[in-house]
Amino acid sequence: MARHLITSAIPYINGIKHLGNLVGSQLPADLYARYLRARSHEVLFLCATDEHGTPAELAAAKAGKPVAEYCAEMHDVQAGIARGFALSFDHFGRSSSPQNHRLTQHFAHRLKEAGLIREVTEHQMYSVADGRFLPDRYIEGTCPNCGFESARGDQCDNCTKQLDPTDLINPRSVISGSTELELRETKHLYLRQSAMRGQLEQWILSKTEPTGEIRNGVEMIRTTWPILTTSIALKWLRDGEGLQDRGITRDLDWGIPVKDGDADWPGMEGKVFYVWFDAPIEYIACAQEWVDAGKGTDWERWWRTDKGADDVRYTQFMGKDNVPFHTLSFPATILGSGEPWKLVDYIKSFNYLNYDGGQFSTSRGRGVFMDQALAILPSDYWRWWLLSHAPETSDAEFTWENFQASVNKDLADVLGNFVSRITKFCRSKFGEVVPEGGAYGDQEQALIADLTARVAAYQAQMDAIEVRKAAAELRAIWVAGNEYLQSAAPWTTFKTDPAVAAMQVRLGLNLIRFYAVLSAAFIPDASAGLMAAMQTDDWSWPDDVAGALQALPPGHAFNVPEVTFRKITDEERADWQTRFAGIRA
Ligand code: 2FM
Ligand code: ZN
Repeated sequence: MARHLITSAIPYINGIKHLGNLVGSQLPADLYARYLRARSHEVLFLCATDEHGTPAELAAAKAGKPVAEYCAEMHDVQAGIARGFALSFDHFGRSSSPQNHRLTQHFAHRLKEAGLIREVTEHQMYSVADGRFLPDRYIEGTCPNCGFESARGDQCDNCTKQLDPTDLINPRSVISGSTELELRETKHLYLRQSAMRGQLEQWILSKTEPTGEIRNGVEMIRTTWPILTTSIALKWLRDGEGLQDRGITRDLDWGIPVKDGDADWPGMEGKVFYVWFDAPIEYIACAQEWVDAGKGTDWERWWRTDKGADDVRYTQFMGKDNVPFHTLSFPATILGSGEPWKLVDYIKSFNYLNYDGGQFSTSRGRGVFMDQALAILPSDYWRWWLLSHAPETSDAEFTWENFQASVNKDLADVLGNFVSRITKFCRSKFGEVVPEGGAYGDQEQALIADLTARVAAYQAQMDAIEVRKAAAELRAIWVAGNEYLQSAAPWTTFKTDPAVAAMQVRLGLNLIRFYAVLSAAFIPDASAGLMAAMQTDDWSWPDDVAGALQALPPGHAFNVPEVTFRKITDEERADWQTRFAGIRA
C-alpha cells in the first residue's frame, strides 16, 4: 500500500466548464484516484476553484455582483456540478482561501530572501474612467494592419497579428468603452526564473533517460513522463521564451495582496499577486483547507518531505496548455523557496477535445457544458464516453453520432444487456437468489484464466494512467462475460440439465459484482447500483479472479436491477445535435 497525492488543474471560477475541460483534468484524475483507492492505497485527491485574475473580476461585474460574492456563489455551483459527475475530491478548495493568502505571501518572502525576485518599473495603459490599469486584452481598437475595428491589445482576431496596446488606433477600454487612456508608470515584481534554468533542467531531465540512438545528430531520449508533457517542458525550457523572468504581480483589486510574508512590501501597496503565481500554490493550501475543514489531520505528511511526504507519489492532471506552468513556473517557486516541499512525480497531460467539427469554447459558449450534460443524461454515460475517448495521443473529437454509438454498444448492449439477461433469467427459473448447481467446469475455468490475464492487463494500463487503453481492456472484460454467456447459454442448458444451468447462472451473477468492482472508477453510479442490486458491499478488488467469482454464495439474495444503461434513440441524438449546434446564451 502506497500513498498517492493527486491534483487536478484547478478550474477558473468564471463560468461552468465544458466537457473538454472536464476530460482534460478533473475526470481522469478522478478515475485514477478511484482506482487507487479500490486497490487499497491511501489517496489524497485535491481540486479547487481558481478565483483570481481579471476574468473573475469582469464576470462578477457582468453579473452585477461584488467579486467575492460572485466567487463564493460560483464555487458552490462548480462544487455541485462536480458532485453531479461523481468527482471524488477529498476537498474542493478555493484559491481565495486565507490559507492560500498566507502561503502565497510566504513563498514570495522566501523567494525574495533567496534573491530570486527583482523589482521592475514599466509603463502600462491606465484607464482614467475605470480608475485602473488595463491588461492588454482589455484594450480594444482598430488594427493598424488590417483595419479591423475590434482588435485586442495583444492580438488582432481578424488578421492574427500580434499587437501591443500602443499599436492600436483609437484604443478604448473594454470595460467601460472609455478612450481616456494613458501610459502610466508602475512597478512590478519579477520572479528570476532564468536564474533557475540549471536546476529546472536537471529536474526535468531526471524524468528522462538517453537511449544512445542518434537521429539527425540529436540523441533520442526515453521519458518517464508522457511524451506530451516532456516535449512541452523541454521546448519551453530551451526555446528561451519559457524561462524568461516572469511578472508575478498585477495592478488589480481582487487577488492576494502583495506582501513579504506577514510584512508590507514597500512600493507594492494596492497590488496583488498574478493569478498564475497563487493558483498552483493552492494545491498545497488546499491540503491545509482539507485539515481545517476537519476532514484530515496532517497536511504536512503529504507536502513536506521532512514530514513524511518523501513516501508520497504525487501525480498532477492537466490540459497541455497548463504544462509550462507545472513543469517550469511552479517548480521554480517550490525549488526557489529552498524549503523541503514535495515536487510532482508524474505529470499526466492531455490534448484537446474538439466539438463537432470545431473547438469547444467557453468564451463563445460552443459545445456541451457540464450542467447541460447532466440535464440530459446521468453522469456515467458521459464519464464512459469521455474517458474511453480521452485525448491522449492526439486531439479527439466529440460527435453526437460517436457518443450515441459508444453508449448504445458498450454500455447498453454489452454491459447492460449482460446484467439484465442473467438476472431476469435467474428470477424466472430459480427466483431472486443465487442458485447452487455444481462446481465450475472446464468452460468456467477457461473463462477464469482469460479474465485473470485481462484483469492484469487492465491493471497495467490503469497503473500507467493510459486511460483509453484501460477503457479498452475493461470493455474486453465485459465482452468476455457476454461471450461466455452466449456460449454457455443457460436458457438452453436448463432444458436438459438444470443443475449445470444453475452453476452457469451462479457464475453470471458473480460476474455482475466482479464487473461493478472493476468498473467503478469509470462508472461509479452504475457500479453502486449493481452492487445494491446484488445486495453486497464487498468491494474487494479481484486479486484472485477465481475467488472473486465465488463471492456471492448459493442462497444469496439479489434483485433484478432497473435498467443499468438505456440506449440513446436516433430522435434524441438529432434533437441534441440541433440544440447544441449554436452557442450557449
Ligand atoms: O487553465 C486553467 O483552467 C487554470 N485555471 C488552471 C490552473 S492549474 C493550477 F496551476 F492551479
Ligand atoms: Zn488585423
